[in-house]
Amino acid sequence: MWQKKIFLIVIAVSTVSLLLHHGGHWSWTMEAFNLGCPALRSHPFPGLKPKHHNVVFLKTHKTASSTMQNLLFRFAERNNLTVALPIQACGHQFCYARTFTSHFVHPHTLPPNIITNHMRFNKAELQRLMPNDTIYITILREPSSMFESLFSYYNQYCQSFKRVPNGSLEAFLREPWRYYRPDEKDSMYARNTLTFDLGGDKDRPATDVMYARAFVAEVDRVFSLVMIAEYFDESLVLLRHLLSWDLDDILYLKLNMRTQSSKRSLTPGLPAKIRAWNSLDARLYDHFNASLWHQLSALGTDCVAREVRLLRQAQERLMRSCFGGGMPLLRSAAQIKNKDLRPWQPGGKVDIVGYELPVNFSRGVSSQAQELCLKLIMPEVQYTRVLLRSQSLRYRRVYQLRTPRQSHPAQQAIRTALPRNLQVHRSQPPPAAASAAQGPASGSASTSTSNPAAETQGQTTKLEPKSSQTQAT
Ligand SMILES: *[C@@H]1O[C@H](CO)[C@@H](O)[C@H](O)[C@H]1NC(C)=O
Ligand SMILES: *[C@@H]1O[C@H](CO)[C@@H](O)[C@H](O)[C@H]1NC(C)=O
Ligand SMILES: *[C@@H]1O[C@H](CO)[C@@H](O)[C@H](O)[C@H]1NC(C)=O
Ligand SMILES: *[C@@H]1O[C@H](CO)[C@@H](O)[C@H](O)[C@H]1NC(C)=O
Ligand SMILES: *[C@@H]1O[C@H](CO)[C@@H](O)[C@H](O)[C@H]1NC(C)=O
Repeated sequence: MWQKKIFLIVIAVSTVSLLLHHGGHWSWTMEAFNLGCPALRSHPFPGLKPKHHNVVFLKTHKTASSTMQNLLFRFAERNNLTVALPIQACGHQFCYARTFTSHFVHPHTLPPNIITNHMRFNKAELQRLMPNDTIYITILREPSSMFESLFSYYNQYCQSFKRVPNGSLEAFLREPWRYYRPDEKDSMYARNTLTFDLGGDKDRPATDVMYARAFVAEVDRVFSLVMIAEYFDESLVLLRHLLSWDLDDILYLKLNMRTQSSKRSLTPGLPAKIRAWNSLDARLYDHFNASLWHQLSALGTDCVAREVRLLRQAQERLMRSCFGGGMPLLRSAAQIKNKDLRPWQPGGKVDIVGYELPVNFSRGVSSQAQELCLKLIMPEVQYTRVLLRSQSLRYRRVYQLRTPRQSHPAQQAIRTALPRNLQVHRSQPPPAAASAAQGPASGSASTSTSNPAAETQGQTTKLEPKSSQTQAT
């Protein structure tokens, strides 16, 4: 008799814990099912497509890409994946402004599954570095709000902006050529930044329609998904379907935002001027915004709306469980006491907001959950450092105790596949940029004494602008 009782209790307890564990997932799985939407899954079921692991996310500037990077870092950690990270001399970006090469990748982060730190895109080098089933993703933002953001964020770093009297965006746009020098350091923040990040020629005249068309077509060919910052959640839904990921894999908290007071609204007529000045970016944006909406309607407007709603609900639940009653504490960077959580600020009038943990954060939360919550709000510079440390430890554990002869076949393959100088870079003196490792990359780390043109052989001519060769003089 007592055995039966215990049995019933055990059954009841496991049912309750199962419901607590899976309840949320079941409810949205069922909701989606009722709409006839593609299956939403919470846990891998046998026979279902496995999650796709190998991803290049080209991180563009001022486009919500830090939020995406954080999401990818967390996915990588949960799935024991390797994230290719920059060597120390490159800072936390792949020596950005110089065109990407595999020399910029830290050897302890090879062979990679994911790469997402800032870089100037170079398809040929990435194809050599990454597994051959890698999916390419990037993100764009509407050019006029993006340019306003760049103008205020890089006001003190980019000479083209610094020259403008009164820091006036209107004055810059009235006569851009008076302030803009195409070959100057950091000039990529002042014109067609998206095109530049994608490896294109930011200074092609707007009249060269052939170039613009070919460039858009090439980006379309290489990237399976071009997300749009204005429709971030909708873009994430497409991402989730493309990569066969769960709803849990796309939860995020917005990172690297400015305070409201450092944003300004654009006067009438300004957006048109910005689009004309950044005509290549405008063309890219229009093309990929249209293509995003085609993909969304192919998935079904109702299904997308439902999934976005479920995503936001799941996000709220996560926030509540991490930070208690409501949201984490939004603070301007200067006020954040915890160094690990303080975002990098470009100085001047720009105020970037970050998050501070509630004082009673550790109460009633397991250390594992705390770690997740902390990572959710960790800015990119700190997270990159944390990942490099943990991956280096893992690398040493796996490879250092073996003799070179016995090293992992994948590692050997990488050694032979990569250029020789990657393997010896640690014995070389660090480039001058090393001291700027803390910066936004951008700012001070972008110039270097070596010639990037010498390292960019083998890339497609279409995505390679002439201007890059004059960057490092
Ligand atoms: C990741 O690695 C840890 C430790 O090696 C292991 O316990 C865990 O199950 C792994 N997780 C996955 C998803 O492979
Ligand atoms: C990808 O690489 C693997 C081994 O490295 C090879 O067997 C496979 O055929 C390649 N696939 C494609 C599509 O090239
Ligand atoms: C800058 O500000 C001063 C004083 O407010 C004004 O006289 C001047 O015309 C402004 N210059 C430009 C280029 O807007
Ligand atoms: C993006 O495309 C959609 C659908 O065509 C359109 O409604 C929307 O206004 C576009 N967004 C922007 C910011 O241009
Ligand atoms: C933390 O304290 C605040 C009030 O001081 C309270 O509202 C909140 O629920 C607490 N959070 C946790 C997780 O205990």
